[in-house]
Amino acid sequence: GATAFNTLSGAAPQVIGHRGAPAYLPEHTLGGYELAIAMGADIVEPDVQLTSDGFLVAMHDTTLTRTTNVEALFAPRNGTYNVSDFTLAEIKTLTVEPTGPASTTYPGFTPSSPEPFMVPTLGEVLDFVNAHNAATGDKIGVYPESKVPNRSELSVKIVEELQAKGFVNRDQNSYIQTFSHDGAREIYALQNLLGMDNAVAALGAAVFDGSVYGVFDFTNNTVTPLEEVATFAHGVGVTLGSPNLDAGFFAAAHALGLEVHGWTFRPTSIEAAETLFGQYIALGMDAMFTDYPDLGRQVVDGY
Ligand code: G3P
Ligand code: CA
Repeated sequence: GATAFNTLSGAAPQVIGHRGAPAYLPEHTLGGYELAIAMGADIVEPDVQLTSDGFLVAMHDTTLTRTTNVEALFAPRNGTYNVSDFTLAEIKTLTVEPTGPASTTYPGFTPSSPEPFMVPTLGEVLDFVNAHNAATGDKIGVYPESKVPNRSELSVKIVEELQAKGFVNRDQNSYIQTFSHDGAREIYALQNLLGMDNAVAALGAAVFDGSVYGVFDFTNNTVTPLEEVATFAHGVGVTLGSPNLDAGFFAAAHALGLEVHGWTFRPTSIEAAETLFGQYIALGMDAMFTDYPDLGRQVVDGY
């Protein structure tokens, strides 16, 4: 492996199990997170939604239909299957199903959880990571996303749950992310109030107006200059489709002390992975969200 990387810290870039390991097992499940960690992910990512009774669940979509068997068990509510119209107890009756290339099994892997493909609460994901770290001495981080539209209630509950489960400072290698830069500001301020300093990441697209690099905030169609991002975040999480995700962007971000994380890496072979991850490792990417944590690990370790 390389003796030095172009990352902000100089350490190897981190591999983030995006929603777990959804190329192989159902996304946002304890089984999927366990496989991601077994495959060498440094960090696991849960997106977070709120149930009707105010609980946090690991789920990407605002509705339950794409990833669970809700339609077989429940009638629609208000014409849809919004997470926010179902109680946690109801959601706990659902099974999470594989999407895309994923299956319900992975060769040689037996989940330790008796019910590995239910919808976990954020607390259950944090408990799982804590138990793994305690048993192994690993320092696997978590990367919860406060899903937009921006809701203070959601962000506050995520921060409080992190605090309750002992994820309180940057030494634990954890991040809180959101596409709403207003939301990221709120999260930063709330953590300050609570004496917490998990890293905050502002999501969007890398942009350049000819003189200033920034992150495009999709939630209100504005650009937040990197200099401003650095006042409330420790990193930016940018789409690989960004028009200006180039050496200049990395230099500008790193000069401000901002990490650059990219999403979403979906190479389907080791050859494709070497090319795709390799291109961004060379630029100095600090962490990579991937559906294929095994391929990310392999490329980083072999770099
Ligand atoms: O959080 C980075 C990436 O996960 C954002 O996209 O839609 O997969 O949450 P999404
Ligand atoms: Ca996400």
